[in-house]
Amino acid sequence: MKLAVIGSNGQLGTDLEEVLSAHNDVEGLTHADIEITDIDKVKTLLSALKPQMVFNTAAYNLVAEAEKNADEAFLINGIGTLNLAKVCQDLGIALVHYSTDYVFDGKKQKPYTEDDYPNPLNVYASTKLSGEYFARNYCERSFVIRVSGIYGKVASRGKGGNFITTMLKLAKEKKEVRVVDDEILTPTPTSHIARNTATLINTDQFDLYHMTCQGEVSWYEFAKVIWETLQLETPLYPASVKDFPLVVKRPFYSVLQNKNLDDLKLNQMPDWKNALIEFLREQYQK
Ligand SMILES: NC(=O)c1ccc[n+]([C@@H]2O[C@H](COP(=O)([O-])OP(=O)(O)OC[C@H]3O[C@@H](n4cnc5c(N)ncnc54)[C@H](OP(=O)(O)O)[C@@H]3O)[C@@H](O)[C@H]2O)c1
Repeated sequence: MKLAVIGSNGQLGTDLEEVLSAHNDVEGLTHADIEITDIDKVKTLLSALKPQMVFNTAAYNLVAEAEKNADEAFLINGIGTLNLAKVCQDLGIALVHYSTDYVFDGKKQKPYTEDDYPNPLNVYASTKLSGEYFARNYCERSFVIRVSGIYGKVASRGKGGNFITTMLKLAKEKKEVRVVDDEILTPTPTSHIARNTATLINTDQFDLYHMTCQGEVSWYEFAKVIWETLQLETPLYPASVKDFPLVVKRPFYSVLQNKNLDDLKLNQMPDWKNALIEFLREQYQK
C-alpha cells in the first residue's frame, strides 16, 4: 500500500514510518513538507501523492501552554484534523488519527473503554477531542486511536522530550527527585503502538480504539522502574499533585482498556512494565 505519515520525524511518527515501511511504500512527511492547518496545501500535496492511507501524528501537545494558547491548539488539533478528514474523504483516502487518554476526567477510577463518555478537563484535551469528532464524522474511513503516556526512541518534538528523558535529566541535575504518586496512567512505547496500528489497518473496522499497554501505574512507579533498571543513584521520592503549583487540570486517573481491539482479537499490546524495561535496556544499556 502507498501510505503517508504526517509528523514522520516526531516521536510516534518515526516508529510508524519504520514499522509500516516493512510492508508498504511509505512517504514520511515532516512539518516542512505539510502544514495541516492549510487545507489548500493539504489538498495539493495529497492529490499529488495519492496515498491510500494517511497517518496523522501532528499535534499541539504542550498541555500546560495550551491553556494560554487555546487558538493555536485548536487550530492544529481541531481544524488541522478537520482539514485532513475533509481532504481524505474527498480523495478516497483512509485516515488514521491519534488522540489521548486525557479526553477523560478520571472520575471513573476504573479503566475507560471506548464506550465511556469523555469529559476533557483542559484546553489541550478539549481540542484533541474535537479532532476525534472531526476525523470520525468527516472521513467515513477513519481509525481514531487514543494512546497514553507515550515514549519512543525519538523524544516528542512538541514537548522537547518525554517522561524518561525528563527523569534522566532531573536525576543528573537535582539532589533528589520527587514524582507524583496520585496520577495513574499506562505508559506505552510508540514502537508497540506502531506495530498494533500496522495490524489494525489490515481490517476495514473503521472506529474509535484505545491502544495502550496493559496494567496501570502512577508516574512515581513509572519513575521507579526507570531508576531500578538504569540503576540511578539520585534519591527518588513519591509526591502528591498538591505539592506542585496547579498550572492545568489533569485527570487523576486516565487508564484505557483496549476493548475494541480485544473484541476484534487484535489487542497485541504488552504489559507496561515489561515493555518499559525492554525499551530502557535497548536504548540506554547497549
Ligand atoms: N506525549 C504523550 O504522552 C501523548 C499522550 C497521549 C496522546 N499523545 C498524542 O500522540 C500523538 C503523537 O505525539 P508525539 O509525541 O509523537 O508528537 P511530536 O513528537 O511532537 O510529533 C509531532 C509531529 O507533528 C509535526 N507537526 C506539528 N504541527 C504540525 C502542523 N501544523 N502541520 C504539520 N505537522 C505538524 C511536528 O513537526 P515540528 O516539530 O517540526 O513542528 C512533529 O513532526 C499526538 O497526537 C499527541 O497528541 C501523546
